[in-house]
Amino acid sequence: MHDDYRTPKGTLVTFDPARAAEFVRNGQVVAFPTETVFGLGALALDANAVQGIFAAKVRPADNPLIVHGHTRGALDVAVDHWTDAARALGDGFWPGPLTVVVPARRMFRTPSRRALAPSVCGCRTTPARLRSWPPSAPRRGPSANRSGRPSATRLEDVLADLDGIIPCVLAEDAITTHGIESTVVDCTEAVPRVLRAGAIPLESVREVCPDATAVAADGSSGARSPGTLHPHYAPRARVTLVTGATELEGDAQTAWIGLREPPAPGPFASVVVCRDVADYAQRLFAFFRDADRAGLMRILCETVPDEGLGTALMDRLRRAAEARG
Ligand code: TXA
Ligand code: MG
Repeated sequence: MHDDYRTPKGTLVTFDPARAAEFVRNGQVVAFPTETVFGLGALALDANAVQGIFAAKVRPADNPLIVHGHTRGALDVAVDHWTDAARALGDGFWPGPLTVVVPARRMFRTPSRRALAPSVCGCRTTPARLRSWPPSAPRRGPSANRSGRPSATRLEDVLADLDGIIPCVLAEDAITTHGIESTVVDCTEAVPRVLRAGAIPLESVREVCPDATAVAADGSSGARSPGTLHPHYAPRARVTLVTGATELEGDAQTAWIGLREPPAPGPFASVVVCRDVADYAQRLFAFFRDADRAGLMRILCETVPDEGLGTALMDRLRRAAEARG
């Protein structure tokens, strides 16, 4: 067991879920680990608390926040009605890395948006801790990173973006399990549509909803999640995607991540060879942040087949590469 401590900038790092829950109940913003990435929690019905999340993330006001509940029932105060697809997907995957988009109750609508994105995410907590975390009231739950930056999968990454800005972080020893965000599925129309590829692959969504579709990565087949329209997942280093054996020079300012050793002569500043696509997805954001911390100029990322979890991984890789043109 670790001792709680306060950073020099004043953020409390606690290992006690009850202590973190107290901050949430008092209308404050807390970062906490989920099975996908670290999230930022604040009471969904407290306008000041929700405003605190937008301010902490420097998040564009047009990018809505998902809502977390510890059960589907806890989300009924926010959801107008659960469509058949949302019900079926919730039964199949909750608690788990799935976010559905469903009609919102009036107080959760905005002039431009009548739908809401709830999730019963699996919290990375032991059964003993679950009694105090998560708090039972619905909470807003965006990823705990400054807007546009890679999501945070480790305590140090949360603090790199939010130290001194949020009052409390609930810490964990290990990094988050999936390392990549939840799958967002629009369930407001007759045919469910994946708006953001995530930890649950389209193939698995189709086992529950066989007719489910996915919007194209470039948005050409319909609107994506609003958040996917903003620059995202970008490290400061320039990201180049590498497919197959390419003539590429490594150098001391370049890092490599992939399923194989780099197809280029070294030396590299760092080389991360992942066991499989799941391992790659789990390590990607931490790798980006380590490269930034080391002040590297260039990152080479091996591409993976666009299937299964590889679809979500390729989405993050493409967007990281696009962010610097
Ligand atoms: O795994 C996750 O989903 C993490 C953990 C912490 O729960 N959260 C997360 O939140 O990734 P965020 O805010 O970084 O991404 C949520 C995505 C954004 O692309 C946002 O635009 C979209 O969900 N979204 C939120 N509300 C929506 C709505 N009403 N309709 C369509 N998309 C929505
Ligand atoms: Mg995010």
